[in-house]
Amino acid sequence: MDFRQQSVALDALDSLACDALLVIVAGDKAPGGLDSATQRALDDAVAHGEFEFKRGKTVYLHRPQGLKAARLVFAACGAATPKSVKAAFASGLGALKGGGSKHVAVALAGVTDVGGAHAEALVAAASDASYVYRHTKPSAPAAGALAKVTLLSDKAAAKAVTQGLARGNAIAAGVTLARELGNRPGNHCTPRYLGEQAKKLGREFGLKVEVMDRKAIEKLGMGSFLAVAQGSAEPPRFIVAQYHGAPKTQAPVVLVGKGITFDTGGISIKPSAEMDEMKFDMGGAASVLGTLRAVAELKPKLNLVVLVPTTENMPGGRAIKPGDVVTSLSGQTIEILNTDAEGRLILCDALTYAERFKPACVVDVATLTGACVIALGHHHSGLFSADDKLAGDLLAASAAALDPCWRMPLDEEYEEALKSNFADMGNVGGRAGGAITAAMFLRKFTAKYRWAHLDIAGTAWKSGTAKGATGRPVPLLTHFVLSQAA
Ligand code: BES
Ligand code: MN
Ligand code: ZN
Repeated sequence: MDFRQQSVALDALDSLACDALLVIVAGDKAPGGLDSATQRALDDAVAHGEFEFKRGKTVYLHRPQGLKAARLVFAACGAATPKSVKAAFASGLGALKGGGSKHVAVALAGVTDVGGAHAEALVAAASDASYVYRHTKPSAPAAGALAKVTLLSDKAAAKAVTQGLARGNAIAAGVTLARELGNRPGNHCTPRYLGEQAKKLGREFGLKVEVMDRKAIEKLGMGSFLAVAQGSAEPPRFIVAQYHGAPKTQAPVVLVGKGITFDTGGISIKPSAEMDEMKFDMGGAASVLGTLRAVAELKPKLNLVVLVPTTENMPGGRAIKPGDVVTSLSGQTIEILNTDAEGRLILCDALTYAERFKPACVVDVATLTGACVIALGHHHSGLFSADDKLAGDLLAASAAALDPCWRMPLDEEYEEALKSNFADMGNVGGRAGGAITAAMFLRKFTAKYRWAHLDIAGTAWKSGTAKGATGRPVPLLTHFVLSQAA
């Protein structure tokens, strides 16, 4: 989709040539400054009870009198914040759905400080509305007619809006990549396929991408990662992708994504109901690759390293068994008490590998625990970090990106639960505080750098009729990475 800025004043909307004009109205009364035809249409809709200045209200008007546009939609947003403007735009697009509008122009009325954040939020809504998964369902209706959106703003805001649109477009492409990877079934999106996708990104954006096979991973000594991979006939991969926007001497930000392309639970097998959703267990990998794409497009002045350990988690004759003890790359031994706690087993070795980059900070992203879904539901991702500055930066990025996350505790007291009589640690801690003990497990591998962990088990995908990958937390991560360049 093509999303651009155009300098048009609110009192000239009537002369604008487009298939649909969508006017987002902030505040609780009629905004001033509209041209007389648009104003008349609005007054009339209000007078007849078709429209109210209340968040969520929309009205669709066909062939409005005195306007060049064939369709006119008013969408009320209440507060003039990027978040509410985004929601109003989404409902406005909903009112136009199926109507064949190719070019939609959006105006913000009653919003005094239109800026980059509004522009970015609008791109996100447009991109969300037009994404359709078709790879294994070519019969699905192609993305609607919507091909072009112009955001109307005055000349003063043009520069900020254009920058916001560029950021929004790059993030939207990253989100779409993450959704597409997540939605592809486990027999399509294999570790090998993720490796190929990373290579493709590398070619497109001039990035250094290395994809290691089982032999190379063995040579590194990633005993914990390999333990998970040994139960599967599908070979594992370890992806190392690097973006350089600053001198090589500058310490990079490192992102690590959990890439379980299918999680059966292994010998500690999961119940079969909804097991299909475990194809999304590579949501962390998808989001760090999506973020890499967004960052490579925006070219900030910093260095970024993306690490993805990827494998299936299968039961089989060679699969790990409860009670098995493995040696991680760090040298620490792990008693695998539950083979379904596999995410931490592949991440811990990638976290140790991250040391070699002498990172400025490391953030891992994983659909790690069902316990996080119980704690936070599907709205906030879980954020864990002992570093207040890093946690603060991630929370700020989350707010700016409209991609919510919530900080969870990480006190040493929780470590007790991971004690084992047969190894340096067990891989599970029991039901209580399951998201926290999982983070505590990872923490044992991160002593050498500043580190944070995002548990996206509740936010990376949706269940029910809207089943599918969300592309989260690409917006949060992209904002975070950009913030580290400043
Ligand atoms: N991939 C799952 C976590 C998950 C569960 C994500 C539900 C999304 C929805 C992870 O590998 C897992 O199975 N975790 C176990 C850990 C337990 C064995 C300590 C869980 O959450 O049940
Ligand atoms: Mn699991
Ligand atoms: Zn898993």
